[in-house]
Amino acid sequence: MTPAGDLLAAEIRHNGPIPFRRFMEVALYHLEHGYYRRPRDPFGKAGDFFTAEQVQPVFGALMAARVRQLWRSMGEPQGFTVVELGAGRGEMSAAFAEWRYVPIDLDFGELPEGFEGVVFSNEFFDALPVEAAVFAGGEFRERRVALAGDAFVWSEGDKVSREVEHYLRRWFPPPEEGRCYEANLSALAWIERAGRSLHNGYLLTIDYGFTRRESIRFPAGTLMGYRRHTARENVMEDPGARDITAHVNFSALEEYGAECRLVTERFETLAQTILAAGEADQFGSVLAAGGPAEELRRRMQLKTLLFGMGETFRVLLQRKRP
Ligand SMILES: C[S@@+](CC[C@H](N)C(=O)[O-])C[C@H]1O[C@@H](n2cnc3c(N)ncnc32)[C@H](O)[C@@H]1O
Repeated sequence: MTPAGDLLAAEIRHNGPIPFRRFMEVALYHLEHGYYRRPRDPFGKAGDFFTAEQVQPVFGALMAARVRQLWRSMGEPQGFTVVELGAGRGEMSAAFAEWRYVPIDLDFGELPEGFEGVVFSNEFFDALPVEAAVFAGGEFRERRVALAGDAFVWSEGDKVSREVEHYLRRWFPPPEEGRCYEANLSALAWIERAGRSLHNGYLLTIDYGFTRRESIRFPAGTLMGYRRHTARENVMEDPGARDITAHVNFSALEEYGAECRLVTERFETLAQTILAAGEADQFGSVLAAGGPAEELRRRMQLKTLLFGMGETFRVLLQRKRP
């Protein structure tokens, strides 16, 4: 068993089955053994996955072009700040260097107070620990994690908390017997925090996800595990040695955002955002620089972003006015 697995198994032996949220917290973020805390780099070719943000410099240049449009639409304010949630390896620092850039991750950065600018994130919300639930016997019940020998297995727990029930009733269609769900309460907390600290500007969120209506496509929920670029369905195998994600519920982000005065301006695919960002000069500035070999490399990157990731990732743009 992995070291994080040993810790989780000991906790289950001691306390009984644990909430899935606790399992995900330890598996991803335990200080020593969590997936995002270990010395091994999970990103890139030798790692388990790569994100759009690593397709550099093209992704950076395109997102900077998008942010420049937003900056202009606000009248090019002085002190314009780009905050990045879940900045990871800081891949965006060169791209956002023309503004004050505040990267935030587990060990660094803090949301500034009352700033003007953009809160940017790529695959941040899908990495937050979620509550897992199943609709059984006419009510939402917790999906907990138990032990069967050395393996982690699902076990049905009590009725979910009122907060989780409220989330599931509000941001999913009426429940159906046997369906599984996830509630991302941390995502709501981050939306609220971002709305509070942003005085004037935008929240630009890129992630995998679905709307309330689209959620019917996922009767078994959306939890996924990644190892060596392959999606595994058993998310409870090898905790700490693989990534775990849950698709983002964009209806929750939009509607809770509106309550925090973050009003949706656009909700579109990553491909649409990229096409709009590159429109002004037909991608000239993104592809230029560094001779034919570099141009070919950049064209390949653009292709990966547009066709490989462009339709699976969504971009939500929310506006906060003073
Ligand atoms: C899937 S990675 C994405 C990294 C980067 N944005 C990219 O696209 O390559 C998710 C990131 O969110 C960070 N993260 C998770 N929970 C966080 C929290 N509570 N506060 C700050 N960062 C967090 C993780 O450490 C990780 O770097």
